[in-house]
Amino acid sequence: MNSENNLNNIKNHRPFIYFFSRLDYLLSRSFLCLLSRFSDNIIDFIRSSVNIKEASLVKNLKFKLNKEKINNLLDWADEYGERIPRGTVNKKYSSSIKIDPKNKLIYDLVIKGSREISLNYGKNLWVNALLYDIESIPSEYYSVDTYSNIWHQDSHDGYLVFKMFVLMQDVSEKDGPFIYLDRENTIKYWRLARDRNSDAFNSIHPLKGLSKSFTGSRGDIMMINTATCFHRDSVPKSSRKILCITYFPEWRKHSDCIKIKRDYINQNKK
Ligand SMILES: [Fe+2]
Repeated sequence: MNSENNLNNIKNHRPFIYFFSRLDYLLSRSFLCLLSRFSDNIIDFIRSSVNIKEASLVKNLKFKLNKEKINNLLDWADEYGERIPRGTVNKKYSSSIKIDPKNKLIYDLVIKGSREISLNYGKNLWVNALLYDIESIPSEYYSVDTYSNIWHQDSHDGYLVFKMFVLMQDVSEKDGPFIYLDRENTIKYWRLARDRNSDAFNSIHPLKGLSKSFTGSRGDIMMINTATCFHRDSVPKSSRKILCITYFPEWRKHSDCIKIKRDYINQNKK
């Protein structure tokens, strides 16, 4: 009886719930150039004391993952990894394999990455790791969001979403690299690229000369705040493999992540 009453209550208030939920996103889009909820952004600001500009990390790391470690990781993925098809309009062209961040093949890397992230985001971080396979898609899919090939920000949490990308192979422009804008250009071209789904023509604007490609040699590593900076995958001629390690602040518990205790002995509070 009680749950029936609750259900009726929700039904009666549905227009208000919808209104406030839209408002929550609209405020962020209108005033902060972010696609995440306004309420989540407020929580992030209060908890971290780090503003959006300061949090907009874009960095090529000096260390690399060596060939032996890459080969071991790819062998492990072939033997034990569960390949999960991914995509929106078609799941045929990309897949991911989940790797436990505490797996000894990547744990060192996870810890090294965490040192690049401000201690303001907590003594612990929530982390997950995915090995992506991205294949070429037919041209009719270029303008629709097939595997995050459309400009976007990661909007599922607040403004503190940090990703470490590791090239599993040499990547040139023909390999459809990950491409991104820094925060300054994200704000400048916000109107052009903000509509991930409703304005596909603008969303695939190449923004040539402004966007940067993560090209390089096998083992190269970069980090970026994907909640504040526009980014997308481009389409490879053949295929591309990339490792992605994602870090969320201490207060954003994720059931599909592992809590990593920060190794902050070697890091001064930034
Ligand atoms: Fe993304």
